[in-house]
Amino acid sequence: MGGEPLYLEPRLDEGPRSLLGTPGLLHTLADALGSPLHVVLPDQVAANLARFRSVYGRHHLSGQVFYAHKANRSSALLRRLAATDAGADVASLGELQHALGAGFTADRIVATGPKNPEFLWLAARTSVTVGVDSRDELEQLAALVRAHALPRVRVLLRLSGFETPGVRVLSRRSRFGSPVRELAPLLDAVERHRDVADLTGVAYHLDTTSLTEKAAAFEGCLRVLEECRSRGLRPRAVDIGGGFGVGYLADGQQWERYTTELTAAVLGTRPPLTWGGYGYGLRAEAGTLRGTLGLYPAHRPVAGARYLDELLAHPAASLDGRPLAALLLEHLYDLYAEPGRALLDQCGLTLAKVLEVREQDAGGPLWVRLAAKADDVALEEHGVLVDPVVVPRDTAGAGGRARPVAVHLFGALCLETDLITRRTVFLPRRPVPGDLLAFANTAGYCMDFHATRAQHQPAARKVAAWREAGTWRWCLDDQYWPITSAGEAQ
Ligand SMILES: Cc1ncc(COP(=O)(O)O)c(C=O)c1O
Repeated sequence: MGGEPLYLEPRLDEGPRSLLGTPGLLHTLADALGSPLHVVLPDQVAANLARFRSVYGRHHLSGQVFYAHKANRSSALLRRLAATDAGADVASLGELQHALGAGFTADRIVATGPKNPEFLWLAARTSVTVGVDSRDELEQLAALVRAHALPRVRVLLRLSGFETPGVRVLSRRSRFGSPVRELAPLLDAVERHRDVADLTGVAYHLDTTSLTEKAAAFEGCLRVLEECRSRGLRPRAVDIGGGFGVGYLADGQQWERYTTELTAAVLGTRPPLTWGGYGYGLRAEAGTLRGTLGLYPAHRPVAGARYLDELLAHPAASLDGRPLAALLLEHLYDLYAEPGRALLDQCGLTLAKVLEVREQDAGGPLWVRLAAKADDVALEEHGVLVDPVVVPRDTAGAGGRARPVAVHLFGALCLETDLITRRTVFLPRRPVPGDLLAFANTAGYCMDFHATRAQHQPAARKVAAWREAGTWRWCLDDQYWPITSAGEAQ
């Protein structure tokens, strides 16, 4: 194989680990429903919600956790959350219809993202809160409410381009949200449309891992709420969007070692680690490393609810250095959060069957072809590098294969670029045709967000799995409701 294997082992909570310990069930499911196959774990999403909720409790905050539905089309996950006190953040007409149909009432839904008139109409008609992206959108919404005699609509103003006074921490550019520097004409419009639109809060969403950037936006929102109050408006919620992150890898040292070796491979001081010398954003120019590593920071000890906890404890530099949570509490403001990826942490995995294993001359990495397309397992698309788990078909014979191998994982499309991963993957045992590779933690954006039906290949099916009296049960995703077959709450 040449050199020590560079593993990037997935972080597996007890739920997915237990499911992976049932190879017979996983093979039965993939045989019956085809490969690739997505498995979602609805009870896990409820457990993740409880973690977010306990952070609210610790900081004595009221408000709502809205699940960012865009991260997964699953009905099972959405319905499971409808059975809790979570809200839903919907970003399309279809998602809004789905949330209403799953049992979310309008007071538990916020409509965000770019909106067409139909989406705006249904949101206003059903009295869903609308996250307004721009002054134009506010004008459009107000006109719609008047024209159709709809109920007065609750709105959140989504803002962007925050700056902190003093030390300059500029939040990243976004094509969404109204720039804070244009706040005055925006609030003028809010006042003009007061009869049809009720301003209930302000919002931001920043796609960054940086706590400082998010804290700057958070503080910016608190200052905007004060400005609103000085105008006699009464908004009382800060919506801090999503982006709490997920730790995909079990072992930080593996991640450090891998990225060091990848850098060495790009510089040519060790054998290649990727297909065709791909550098994930890095390149060598005359022996010097250039570019930046375009990867998700896959080992993240502080992610999800813990990240929210740290953000809330962060001192507000421009507001006497007091923790953000204390400032919310002092004004009795509600906290809204819209986690997508983080709420789906450990909530699913994707199975792909091994179709072919081809030896290479000179002992290079094996070529492993899977019954799946790269867009069915979109971990790479999101820059997430994590190893799949081999689920042998023949568990009795698998012991003899328990020697590490290096492989390239190819997809099922007749396309050079259909690579499940662009890197050489190290597996603790050699896969054989018929085995399954299980990609852990794909529920957040990596199951269906990018899925296509290219070459008439079907999109993966989805099943929901849960445990009853210690035994794994399953059903098709759209057959799942959060009650047992006896009709009891799950
Ligand atoms: C407005 C808004 N809220 C929430 C989210 C969810 O983000 P994440 O999945 O990173 O938590 C997004 C993602 O695009 C978003 O645009």
